[in-house]
Amino acid sequence: MTFNTPILAPSLLAADFTKLGSEISACVDSGIQWLHCDIMDGHFVPNISYGPFIVDAVRDAAPDAFLDVHLMIEDPDTYIESFANAGANLISVHQETCPHLHRTIQHIRDLDCMTGVVVNPATSVDLLYPILPDVDLVLVMSVNPGFGGQSFIKSTLQKIYKLNAIREQMNLTYLIEVDGGVNEENSTTLVQKGADVLVAGSSIFKKSSIPSAIQNLTARMNAGRSDLV
Ligand code: DX5
Ligand code: ZN
Repeated sequence: MTFNTPILAPSLLAADFTKLGSEISACVDSGIQWLHCDIMDGHFVPNISYGPFIVDAVRDAAPDAFLDVHLMIEDPDTYIESFANAGANLISVHQETCPHLHRTIQHIRDLDCMTGVVVNPATSVDLLYPILPDVDLVLVMSVNPGFGGQSFIKSTLQKIYKLNAIREQMNLTYLIEVDGGVNEENSTTLVQKGADVLVAGSSIFKKSSIPSAIQNLTARMNAGRSDLV
């Protein structure tokens, strides 16, 4: 599957859950193709969000959307099939939660989902070398996972740059996604550094207008890409 990058992936964690359907429609009507679903278990991260039942509802609300499911849970293997059945297109697991990462990635692929691996801010991307040829996406956490609305951790920028360089050196095709504290101020730079997918929660759903927030972020991301060429 090929994508027109850069891609903006709204994080539904920041949506108003009393009107989730209409907030999803506002995204889709504004041209959004990816929706980011944050799954938190209260163990790996200090917060609990939602499970496959809500992902299934998101799938019903946006039948054509690409559902990007970010698992922040211990023992992800136990739940991967449930999220695939709920309609996930891509499932990402944290390197920190997977002692048998290669097996877990194969498990996701066997369920016909695209595969992603995630690193926390304090985890080096060097640990990912052996798995890079097997994943469709690498997700760089730019906040410590668990909550929306946190500030972007600047030291994570060099990981994006490095993953972009490794991708070229190794002739690989994984997408580079960034999650946490993405906003109008940093989105151009993130794309310039090599990010293909930006996750944004607060900077879309906590703004007064979802369509204009999406339009602004998209314009800034596209400016970063045109700087690259
Ligand atoms: C954090 C989540 C993020 C979060 C982003 O653990 O993985 O997806 O919702 O929210 P903002 O954009 O508000 O930092
Ligand atoms: Zn996320």
